[in-house]
Amino acid sequence: MIKGILHLVPTSETLAHETAKFIQQRIKNILQHKKRCSISLSGGNTPRKLYQVLASEPYLSDIPWSRVDFFWGDERCVAPDLPDSDYRMAKEAMLDIITSHWHPGIYRIEAEYPPTEAARRYEKTLREYFGDSSSAFDILLLGMGEDGHTASLFPFTQALKETERWVVENYVSKLQAWRITLTAHFLNLAATTMILVSGANKKEVFSLIQSPNASPEAFPILLIQPKNGELHWFVDEDAFSGNASG
Ligand code: 6PG
Repeated sequence: MIKGILHLVPTSETLAHETAKFIQQRIKNILQHKKRCSISLSGGNTPRKLYQVLASEPYLSDIPWSRVDFFWGDERCVAPDLPDSDYRMAKEAMLDIITSHWHPGIYRIEAEYPPTEAARRYEKTLREYFGDSSSAFDILLLGMGEDGHTASLFPFTQALKETERWVVENYVSKLQAWRITLTAHFLNLAATTMILVSGANKKEVFSLIQSPNASPEAFPILLIQPKNGELHWFVDEDAFSGNASG
C-alpha cells in the first residue's frame, strides 16, 4: 500500500498529458497567492515527454513562465552540455522553447564543479532562495528507478542518512560515479510532490515497494513522505501492479 494519491493512466503518452494538465492547474493556483512558483525537475527518460508537452500549446502560452523558477532534484557530475546532464535534457526538451517566449528563473546544479563544491554551491542557492522557511518547492517532480531510487538517493548510499544538509554529494558504487542530490529531508518540504512511474520495467519495483517489509534503505523512494505537502503518484498501466493509494 503506497501512501498518497494515485493517478492511474493508460499509457506513457497520457501520463505526460495528465501531468502537464496537473502542473498547469497547480502553477496557476499557486500564482494566485504567490508572486513566483518554484518547480524542481527530475531527470531520466520518463519526464522528457512531459517537458515537451509543457513547452507546447496550450501550456507554452497559458502558463506565465516568467513567474516560474526551475530547480533540479539531482544531477550527474558532468558538464551541463554533456548527454548525461539532467539539465541538458530539460533544456533541450523544454527550456530552450520556454525561454524564447518567457524569462523563467533557472537554477541549475553546477555539477561541473568537484562534487563537494557542487553540493555546497547548490545548497547556498537553495538557502538564499527559500531562506529558513519551513516549506520548499511548490512543485517537486520525481521519478523512480528500477531499484527504487529517486533523485540520486540510491539504495544503501550515504546520502540516505543525511538529516541536516539540503544537498549532498553521493557516491553511487554501482554506477561508479558521483551524483549531486537533494536530501529526502529537504525534498519532503515540498508542497506538492509528483512521482512519475512509467513502463513495464517499473512493474516489479512498484509492486515491491508496496510490501510492508520494504525498507527505505533498500527502496529510497519510500523516504519521500512530504512533511506537510501532498504526494501524488502518476503511474501508467504498464508499471502499475497491486492495490495502491491510501
Ligand atoms: C536521474 C533522475 C532519476 C530518475 C530515475 C528514473 O537523474 O536519472 O533524477 O532519479 O528519475 O532514475 O529514471 P527513468 O525515468 O529514466 O526511468
